[in-house]
Amino acid sequence: MTNYRTLITRDIGEKAIASIQKISEVDVWLESTPPSAEQIKQSLKDVDALVCMLTDPISREIIESAPKLKVISQMAVGTDNIDVAFATQKKIPVGHTPDVLSNTTADFAFALLLAVARRVVESHNAVHQGNWQPWGPYVWSGHDVTGSTIGIIGMGRIGQAMARRAAGFDMKILYHSRTRKPEIENKLDAEFLSLDALLERSDFISLHTFLSEDTHHLINKKSFQLMKENAILINTARGAVVDQKALIDALQSGKIAGAGLDVSDPEPIHPTDPLLNLPNVVITPHIGSASIQTRKRMAMMMAENVTAALSGKEIPYCANPQVYS
Ligand code: DGY
Repeated sequence: MTNYRTLITRDIGEKAIASIQKISEVDVWLESTPPSAEQIKQSLKDVDALVCMLTDPISREIIESAPKLKVISQMAVGTDNIDVAFATQKKIPVGHTPDVLSNTTADFAFALLLAVARRVVESHNAVHQGNWQPWGPYVWSGHDVTGSTIGIIGMGRIGQAMARRAAGFDMKILYHSRTRKPEIENKLDAEFLSLDALLERSDFISLHTFLSEDTHHLINKKSFQLMKENAILINTARGAVVDQKALIDALQSGKIAGAGLDVSDPEPIHPTDPLLNLPNVVITPHIGSASIQTRKRMAMMMAENVTAALSGKEIPYCANPQVYS
């Protein structure tokens, strides 16, 4: 056994922990809620590897509190909770979990889309409350999915997985992304548009961008003004990509038809948030990638990142490969 120490900020499962224990002493935060920034800071002094979650604010100050830190390995593909620029400056590789969760997350985004469009949760709740309205011509009627138009914002791996699902429902696929994807355009007959044009033409708008300064409140009051009245917004990316106040206004005023949200700003959402009183909103607690199989694979990827870094190798799933150049 070496003298390395690894801090893991949640219980990531026996197999992944055992694999890190082959190379390092391991401390696991075993509470069911995340440690605070201060608790992480206090625990990092002698730590060589940090395994963290998207709920952990890994700021410059926290990174500075860990003089021996050799790797940050996060259980998510998004790394917006980490000061990656500062880690890069300190030559600390930041590991993440790309690819493995793309299909799982797109499955969930599509589940939200169907649930909002066809009023699955609203009608389910009514039945549970003893209110099964007899079959009627327009009882619980929602919006067609098959043959409608979807606008995908962010055509990375998860956006592409969403597009493949949409193609299976004969949807017209519009997309907006930092870079054009000719292969997707050819394969799925997808059309690249400016953001505004996409918002104007889509029945469903699904967000698949990372959160950054550029995408913070990308969907805002002006965006809702452009959307169709039957538009349904799906967000499985990050809450802050949407201006939540503007979303609430758009939903309350009937400017758009509904929203399916797996993320909010902040998380957890406040129990009195008006979004929770809107019947046309389906909201879940950031579980897009939460299938047992995917989460186990993500845990093993994090472990691989840690063992590689502590063995002096390049980490296999790196969000800041510049540290190696
Ligand atoms: C991610 O990976 O960034 C998701 O939000 C959680 O799986």
